[in-house]
Amino acid sequence: MRHFITPTDFTDKETQMVLDLAERIAANPAKYSHVAEGKKLATLFYEPSTRTRLSFESAMLSLGGTTLGFSGADQSSATKGETVADTARVVSCYADIIAMRHPKEGAPLCASMFSRVPVINAGDGGHSHPTQTLIDLMTIRQRKKRLDHLTIGFCGDLKFGRTVHSLVNSLVRYPDNRFYFISPEELRIPDYLIEDTLIPAGSRYMEVTCLEDTLPKLNVLYMTRVQKERFFNEDDYLRLKGIYTLTADKLQLASADMPVLHPLPRVDEIAMDVDQDSRAAYFDQVQNGVYIRMALIMMLLGLAEPQT
Ligand code: CP
Repeated sequence: MRHFITPTDFTDKETQMVLDLAERIAANPAKYSHVAEGKKLATLFYEPSTRTRLSFESAMLSLGGTTLGFSGADQSSATKGETVADTARVVSCYADIIAMRHPKEGAPLCASMFSRVPVINAGDGGHSHPTQTLIDLMTIRQRKKRLDHLTIGFCGDLKFGRTVHSLVNSLVRYPDNRFYFISPEELRIPDYLIEDTLIPAGSRYMEVTCLEDTLPKLNVLYMTRVQKERFFNEDDYLRLKGIYTLTADKLQLASADMPVLHPLPRVDEIAMDVDQDSRAAYFDQVQNGVYIRMALIMMLLGLAEPQT
């Protein structure tokens, strides 16, 4: 039995297999509409979500399976003090696979140790969001036709942005990717990402503060929201929110084929006038989310691909 807790739980080859399967599903979703008949997905979301929870549910329904779950800790027996470990034990009696989002780093890993069915990390605190990473890789590959020899700029809240941490962990595995980390001092990437990921991989990276100066150097731009829910102090959030806003005017500084990614939700870091630009790739990411999660469910449940 396999779980999916961090992007590195999959080898490079397995990652490519999921991306390739997601592409085949995207080309012909109807072909896969019965592969998970009789299977149940449990979505255990202790934190708010629109895209991840609904796309997991959409993915399972699109495969012919069914779903159950809760969309807030207050709707579960967590309010009575039930542990993640016990919840995982219990829910694995009800479902064939579990997707869990939790505000505490490591909670899905803990669940995986007690579950009798595969557990997928749907986002744990500021740590990791590995299914978003697969979506981001699929979208970059669609736009750039490769995942290597890229200069990628990450902009915004790089301290708390779990999608950034996950994606960097994946992108360092491809040859000659370089990184610009664009953030204010207070929201720099965590030291552990430098010490445990970037330095061991021998990756070239720069930490900078100016988006406009960096835009012309990039092959890919990954914008992020300042993560209000992770701040301890409202004043700090108010001071830092809105520090970067990508507008159609600023986008003129970038190359004509530089996709703009964002895991969403956005607040004010990408102006609405960017949406009409062909480089805006964030709604492609949303659509790819369903295909990636269909592919992931198939892989973790060992479901065979239909021949016709
Ligand atoms: N990208 C993402 O995780 O969005 P949600 O928080 O809406 O699930």
